[in-house]
This record gives sequence, structure tokens and C-alpha cells, in this order.
Amino acid sequence: TRVLVLNGPNLGRLGVREPEIYGADTFADLVAAASAWGSELGLEVDARQTDDESQIVAWLHEAVDTRAHVVLNPAAFTHYSYALRDAAAQITAAGLALVEVHLSNPHTRESFRHYSVVSGVATGTIAGFGFQSYRLALAAIAARPA
Ligand code: DQA
Repeated sequence: TRVLVLNGPNLGRLGVREPEIYGADTFADLVAAASAWGSELGLEVDARQTDDESQIVAWLHEAVDTRAHVVLNPAAFTHYSYALRDAAAQITAAGLALVEVHLSNPHTRESFRHYSVVSGVATGTIAGFGFQSYRLALAAIAARPA
């Protein structure tokens, strides 16, 4: 089972960016952790990051066309990108899993982070557990009935 683990803007700055919120570990550490968890769970994980909205939209189209499940941290796009939402909707419409993840719990933060345009088309959302949010998302995908 293939899973694309897609990460939006500023997540390439993990370790440097607001470590009190996002932790001291880097994006490379996250990629290594996600692929190790994937192996344990019998999943083939392909983790990517971009600051570019059109790139994430293209990766979501790729997931539909190649029938990969998706773990998506849309980062700031979570809160306003209808283009991302419309691309994400195609994942679940195709019968694939889309797990929205966040490192922090956006509901404990500024009010502009309280609304996600992606949640309404996600299979489910996991937020607030740091890197463990990704492990829980991968476990949820691995536990799905085939
Ligand atoms: C985030 C939360 C978003 O509000 C923020 O814009 C991010 C990261 C998280 O993982 O906690 O960039 O998605």
C-alpha cells in the first residue's frame, strides 16, 4: 500500500521555525521517522514538502491517478486554500484515505487557525501530537479494511 505524505509551506523549516510550537527536529527527521513507521506498518511511504500551492495540488492529482492514500499536512493552506480542498476532495471521492494532520493543535491557537477548509473532505484529522500525529495517521491507514 502506497502513501504520499504531503507537507505544505514552511514545514521544510522544522527545527528552525518556532521550535516551542513545532519542536526541535527537522523535516529530514520527519521523513526518516515516517518511512520507518511506514515499514513497520507495511506501507510504502513517499514523504514530500513544498511551499508551492500548485505543487501540492499536482501531488494530490498524482495520488488519485496512481491510487495512493494520502497523509496531508496542508500547513497554512489548511485555513484558506479552496484549490487544495478541491484537490483533496478527489482523494476521498476516489475511495482513497485522506488523513489531515497537524503537529500543533490549531484549536488552541489563533482564531484564524480554528477553521480548516480541508477537514470537510478528509477521512479524518489528527492534530496536536507533533511527529506522532503522522504515526497515528499512518496507523489509521494501515488499519483500514482492504
Ligand atoms: C500546522 C498548523 C497550521 O496552522 C500552520 O499554518 C502550519 C503548521 C501544524 O502542523 O501544526 O504551518 O499545519
